[in-house]
Amino acid sequence: GRVAVLYGGRSAEREVSLKSGAAVLEALQGAGVDAYGIDAGQDLAERLIADRPDRVFIALHGRGGEDGSLQGLLESLRLPYTGSGVLASALGMDKLRTKFVWQSLGLSTPRYEVLRNKSDCNAIFEQLGGPLIVKPVHEGSSIGMSKATTLAELEQAWDDAQQYDDQSLVEQWITGAEFTVAILDGRALPAIRLHTPHTFYDYNAKYLANDTQYLCPCGLPEDRERELADLCLAAFHAVGCKGWGRVDVMQDESGRFYLLEVNTVPGMTDHSLVPMAAKAAGMSFTDLVLAILASADY
Ligand code: DAL
Ligand code: MG
Repeated sequence: GRVAVLYGGRSAEREVSLKSGAAVLEALQGAGVDAYGIDAGQDLAERLIADRPDRVFIALHGRGGEDGSLQGLLESLRLPYTGSGVLASALGMDKLRTKFVWQSLGLSTPRYEVLRNKSDCNAIFEQLGGPLIVKPVHEGSSIGMSKATTLAELEQAWDDAQQYDDQSLVEQWITGAEFTVAILDGRALPAIRLHTPHTFYDYNAKYLANDTQYLCPCGLPEDRERELADLCLAAFHAVGCKGWGRVDVMQDESGRFYLLEVNTVPGMTDHSLVPMAAKAAGMSFTDLVLAILASADY
């Protein structure tokens, strides 16, 4: 049957989604799937009602596509779609409430405070101590995120994050290494270690810079990589995710892992991590896209 690939949209991650969508569409068509693309705009519901595709491949990142609202629309229209359902999508888009769930299950995540007013910066800075990282609660691709080592930097970071979201999370900065684990069909793919010479793996390091290093195999001893994979699978299932996703993790200098977030529609661009992990597991980009498409069937 026909597959509609949804991409673009109106979130801050639109540019990333345009690339993910184009890559997915090309792979599906190359594999002989009757696929077509829809740049998700205001008339998306009308388009889907008129077209009635047999399945929907969601390649939208951020609010409006990855956050459960689209998934709810598709449920109402009874159109099968890839990836996580309404609850997990909504929860995964909310870094704060994701932490509530993980903490309640004893899964390790960095210490944090919620920043609601600029006047709280002082108290939070004293409570957590620097360095810190400030994140809009509902964003992706590191948009609106910055590191703060001083109170003045924390106030500046709050101003930056506020441009994207009225809720911000202030997390203890973890000095160490960043890892990511892609999950497909209930299995963890090989972990990737990210290394950037810049302050952190930000939007620039993710999509623009050519000095970001991706290590896969990630260099952890086998038992530690197993531990990391198990932590990420537990984190994925705790949020109720399904089909595919990617869990981001920091490791501090003592070797302890800390969960950062789960992405329910990870990037599928040529710089993206899930395709890289799939390749390390012997899967081509097309194999990966077909496996994700199959998640629309159950
Ligand atoms: N939010 C971006 C697309 C990612 O997680 O890959
Ligand atoms: Mg994310």
